[in-house]
Order: sequence, then C-alpha cells, then structure tokens
Amino acid sequence: MKAIEIRNKYLEFFKNHNHKIIPSAPLIPENDPSVLFTTAGMQPLVPYFLGQKHPVGNRLVDYQKCLRTNDIDEVGDNRHLTFFEMLGNWSLGDYFREESIAMSYEFLTKVLEIPNEKISVTCFAGDEDCPRDNLTAECWKKAGIPEERIYFYGKEDNWWIAGEEGPCGPDTEMFYDTGKEPCSPDCQPSCGCGKYVEIWNNVFMEYLKKDGKYTKLQQHNVDTGLGLERMTMLLEGKETPFDTEIFKPIMDKLQQLSKKDDLASRRIVAEHLRACIMIVCDGGRPSNIDRGYILRRLIRRMTRQMNKLEIDLNELGELIELNIETLKELYPELVDKKATIKEVIIQEKDKFMKTLVRGEREFMKVINKIKAQGKNTIDGEDIFKLYETYGFPPEVTKDLAEENGLEVNMDEVDKLFKEHQNKSRLGSEQKFKGGLAGTGEKEIKYHTATHLLNAALKQVINNNVHQKGSNITEERMRFDFSCDHKLTDEEKAKVEELVNKWIGEDIDVTVETMKKDEAIKSGAECMFIEKYPDEVTVYSIGDVSKELCGGPHVKHTGELGHFKIVKEEASSSGVRRIKAILE
Ligand code: SER
Repeated sequence: MKAIEIRNKYLEFFKNHNHKIIPSAPLIPENDPSVLFTTAGMQPLVPYFLGQKHPVGNRLVDYQKCLRTNDIDEVGDNRHLTFFEMLGNWSLGDYFREESIAMSYEFLTKVLEIPNEKISVTCFAGDEDCPRDNLTAECWKKAGIPEERIYFYGKEDNWWIAGEEGPCGPDTEMFYDTGKEPCSPDCQPSCGCGKYVEIWNNVFMEYLKKDGKYTKLQQHNVDTGLGLERMTMLLEGKETPFDTEIFKPIMDKLQQLSKKDDLASRRIVAEHLRACIMIVCDGGRPSNIDRGYILRRLIRRMTRQMNKLEIDLNELGELIELNIETLKELYPELVDKKATIKEVIIQEKDKFMKTLVRGEREFMKVINKIKAQGKNTIDGEDIFKLYETYGFPPEVTKDLAEENGLEVNMDEVDKLFKEHQNKSRLGSEQKFKGGLAGTGEKEIKYHTATHLLNAALKQVINNNVHQKGSNITEERMRFDFSCDHKLTDEEKAKVEELVNKWIGEDIDVTVETMKKDEAIKSGAECMFIEKYPDEVTVYSIGDVSKELCGGPHVKHTGELGHFKIVKEEASSSGVRRIKAILE
C-alpha cells in the first residue's frame, strides 16, 4: 500500500468515526517559542488539551509534518529519519481508552488488514507517581489481543510527555511482528532487535506535570501518533524506509551518480535532502542560530556525504527536482515552492563549499604540524580554532581527522564549545532537545504583550507594519515586523508609551470563534492566512488589537507589568526586530 493511500484511509476512517480533519500545521511552529520545529502531531494542539475550546470540535484527525533532530547522528542506519509524517487522531475531553483502543484495533486489522497475530501491545507498568494501567490492558483484551501479547513497561517506554513539563500520561504502543527470528528467548517489543516494530502510540493524557509534580488534568484527552514512513515500509514488505516508494527513486539516482559505494552515505543524503526541502518549503532559511542552524547543519552534512560519494555537486538541482517529483503527491505545496527550495539549498551548498575548500587547506597545515610533532591526536583547541577562524564545522574536522588516521578528543571539543560558543546556538539545541516546555505564566504575558506591540507599531509607524515572526522565552519577547527604516529613539519611546498606556488601562482580553473570512473582513490581523482552518479563534484587546491567534493570553492587560524595549535591530531586508521585556 502506498503512503498516500495509507494516509487517505486513515483520514477517511476517523472521519467516519466523527472526527474533523484539520490541516497539517507548518513544520515551523508559529506561536510556540519553546520548540524549533513541530516534533509531534499533538504539539500545535497543546492549548486545547488544557481546556481551550477547539473551533472545529472535540474529535480531530490530521497528518502532521514533523522534524526531530536529536538522533541526527544515527541517520544512515536502517531506520532513523529526521523528517517524518505522523498521522494522528485526538479526543479533546471526548472519548478515552476504550473507544480509542477499539478504533485503533479496527483500523489496523480491518482497514490495513494486519492479522491479529502480528500485533503486540505495551502498557504502563505503574510507579510511585501513577498507577499501573490495567484498564488499557483490559481494553486490549476486549478488542481481541490475547494476554500473552500484552506487555507492561515503565516510564521510559510507556509514558508520553512533550519535553519536560505539560500535559502527559500513560501510553499504549502497538508493535508489528516482522516475523524475524527472536533475538533471544526473552525477545520482546521493547528489546529493539528489529523483530518488533512500533507502529502506533496512543497517549491517555490525564496528568499535568508541573514543577516536577503530577496532578490530574481536568480534561481527559487522547493523543495518538502513527508514523507514516514506517507503516509504508511494513505494508510494502520492505526492510527499511529507504526501500519504499518514498525514498527508492532518490536512492537509485544517488547510486547511479556515486563513484563510491557507501549505503550509509546515500541514506544520509536522501534523508537530509528530503528534510531540507520540507523545511525550506515551510519558510526555514539557513542561519547561525536556532532552526536556521539546524537547516544549515543538515545541508552541510548532506554536502559532505555527496563529496564522500564523489557525486558532482552540480547534480544537486536535479536531485531536488526528483525529490519533489516523488513527494508532490503527499505534499503538493512543494510544487509552487520549487524554485525557492532549489535556490536556498544550492546557495547554502555553494557557501559551504567555499568554507570547506579554505578550511581544508588550514586543516592540512594543522595535520602537518601534528605529524611533525610525532603525535596522532588532534587537540580540541585546534578544532575550535578552525571553527572560530575559518568557520570550519567541528563535525567536519572530526570526519577529516579520522580519514587522516588521527584521533579526536571530542569531549575536549565539546567542553570548549560549551565554554565559548555562541550562547544562542547552544541554547537552541537544548531548547530543541527539551521539546515543548508548555506555556508558562510569563510566556502568556509576553504573548499578550506581543499583540499590544504589534498594534502600537501600526499606530506609531504606519498601517503597513505587519508581523513577520515572533519568539518568546521566559526572559523576553522578540518581534519581527515589516518596516523599511531603523526606528528612531522617538518612535521607540512612543511605542513603549502606548503599550504601557494600554497596560495601565487594564483592558479586557476576549476571545471568540468565527469563520475565517468573517474574521479577516472584520479587520483581524493575521500572519499566514492560508495556514488557518476555516473556523478560527480571534483574540481582541478592547479596540486596541484584534488578531487571529491560538492563544493563550492573559485575561486583562493590567497583568502585564511594565513594558520596555531593550533592543531594536535589523532582522533581514525590510524586516526589523524588537527585543522587549516585561518588568
Ligand atoms: N505524542 C505521541 C507521540 O509523539 C503520540 O502522538 O508519539
């Protein structure tokens, strides 16, 4: 079964079970400053798990583009991917365990026609925080899974939370038995030998973790995720995702273009190229910080591997075209963005090649020095210097050093980088690993302040000021907006004054649900109109501001405190950036 068929059957099945189909959110989250990329289908829905009413209903289904880079070094093996698609269905305070499990079982066995004997499931074994999930096991038995194929594991396996804090709960995972020989008499779904492949994860979200403590959520939710690439692999009877129709054309082409035979390198190129294409399509651009740096790193790794395979780098354009051709059925949005995608990726590759050529020369000098000293290890200091002076990425130095028979003390390199490296970049990677931090009180305040700032800029500068981006942490807000000049001190002072005036007036913040067209007609401000569903939530702050927004916000502006601009600078051409704090 092809990927698109699996996706369509999934959406259809849940639609028939009274779910509303919602659009995939962009890979780059709009209103969630706590993560760099969308890493799970549930992520754009967090406010609704916490009780906010979703405009289209309590039963939702979608497919979601996701990116996870915590296992980036594993890409090249037979299963790891950075970009993937997650099919998901949700109950927002509607059905719970029993119905969720019954639907999953029906979809797997009746729609995808997976035989009952091939399915094993796992449940949460319980610990000091939360009890053993016997209820889930009972539901599975009722659905038709015999006791011997029901396993219980601890939090490492059967508990799901995005990041450190937020809504969470026990989960139940479904595994597909590939029919391979057991790795040992003790072989189980959790052992990771490859006999069992995880295919679906249903989270019974009934807890909230805050300050390290678990409390019961008022609203019980279900959050499920089914990996499309993996399911395609199993249903096509393939050993790895790289053998499925999603990757096969590009893998074949890479083999044809390579002068060296290296399967892992081919997989890295194919995987990273797909991820880069999807990121650029959703608006990502290479840079030295945050998500831009992740994209940059993906392009660099891919370029290095193409070099290793001795593929002519001028083929990159054609490889991108072939990829888009293969993926366009799943992601039609790629077609219109083709020219931009090619331009961005090829430009970045060219830039990297310049660094690489220059850096390699310097690298050889270092090698000669080390050899002349009779040593066989490259110092962290040298690696760091190559990075600082020539922009030569440490992961590339490491590769090159090893290719030259030298050892690398990566611990020392890490230490140096931790000490010296650009804080924001490190911060971004930690932020990425941490996943969704949830929306704290401080962030909610900044979120409302963002709307006020947007409104103030329009009044002080002109009506053509529009939001181009926003990022919020506990410490500050950052707001990008269209504007053709550097703000004068007077303009900045006026903006501060206005925002503080509105805070002083303690204006009520209200929310309503309306049709998207009506919202726009009524003059509500909105960043990317096409990314919103037909029914939207609109937040108003008195007569001051009206914006399409997922929330959450404070109840009235008096809660915000004192607003202060700490920095105003260029962000990119025609776009300015303000950093501000609430004191
Ligand atoms: N959030 C869960 C996961 O990512 C289920 O969707 O696996």
